[in-house]
Amino acid sequence: MPERLAVVSGGATGIGAAVAAGLAEDGYDIIVVGRRADLLAKAADRIGAECGRPGSVEAVPADLADPAQLGRVVEAVGGRTVDVVVNNAGGYLGGDSSTLHGVAAQWRANLDSNVLTAVLLTEALRPALRRPGGRVLLLSSIAAQRGGGGPYSAAKAALHGWAYHLAQELGPEQITVNVVSPGYVADTEFFDGRMTPEGHQRRVDATLVGRAGEPADIAAAVRYLASPAAGYVTGQVLGVNGGSVFGR
Ligand SMILES: NC(=O)c1ccc[n+]([C@@H]2O[C@H](COP(=O)([O-])OP(=O)(O)OC[C@H]3O[C@@H](n4cnc5c(N)ncnc54)[C@H](OP(=O)(O)O)[C@@H]3O)[C@@H](O)[C@H]2O)c1
Repeated sequence: MPERLAVVSGGATGIGAAVAAGLAEDGYDIIVVGRRADLLAKAADRIGAECGRPGSVEAVPADLADPAQLGRVVEAVGGRTVDVVVNNAGGYLGGDSSTLHGVAAQWRANLDSNVLTAVLLTEALRPALRRPGGRVLLLSSIAAQRGGGGPYSAAKAALHGWAYHLAQELGPEQITVNVVSPGYVADTEFFDGRMTPEGHQRRVDATLVGRAGEPADIAAAVRYLASPAAGYVTGQVLGVNGGSVFGR
């Protein structure tokens, strides 16, 4: 099989780690990017060993909201063609919203974490994307479709508009751009310190299938959209939420 390369942001934990493991299983070499170097290196070693190709997963520590750090990723790609970019880094950033300075800081933090990370990584790798056949994936959230997360909801919703724009730009080059919008996914760092048994149960009860999502549920959707079989799917938002919110 010819070498194929996928870059996964936030690939050391939760959904990103499941995506990286899934794509590694599908035969891709992987670059995982995140800010915590130790965690990232451990995840890369583990995923490489589990897929039976030690060394096929490379850890590149970088804060993707800082334009000055994107060169590290481009350097790691090193002139190779990038088949898949999975923009998974992000999260809910709380803060003190009792002052306008606090409001501004929280909005900027959420936009940086969820929008800028995706925009900068995608723009940095845009020249290297496979033509034809490249894939750009954006991880949004059910919060973009039904609210509930303040600036986090708005930041994730911004990804949808940008995905439509990018799909129009890259379509003629046979590169697809799609959004995966997870519902509640347990077993990640997303809710660290913020989840209660009641909050968990409320989210499970809001699904039609009566369970929390797992990182592998989201990875399965990403793997499909990354595959050659999905070449006619672009500019779409795929909800993976157990039926908590219907398609929109
Ligand atoms: N869990 C859910 O219920 C849920 C639901 C809907 C959507 N999502 C979305 O799914 C994605 C993955 O979340 P998760 O649940 O797997 O949570 P997670 O375990 O907290 O994963 C987020 C990852 O993003 C990385 N990251 C954050 N900011 C970064 C930055 N500036 N530069 C580089 N890497 C950065 C983090 O690593 P470092 O901290 O080491 O940088 C971490 O590995 C997020 O975009 C989240 O908003 C999650």
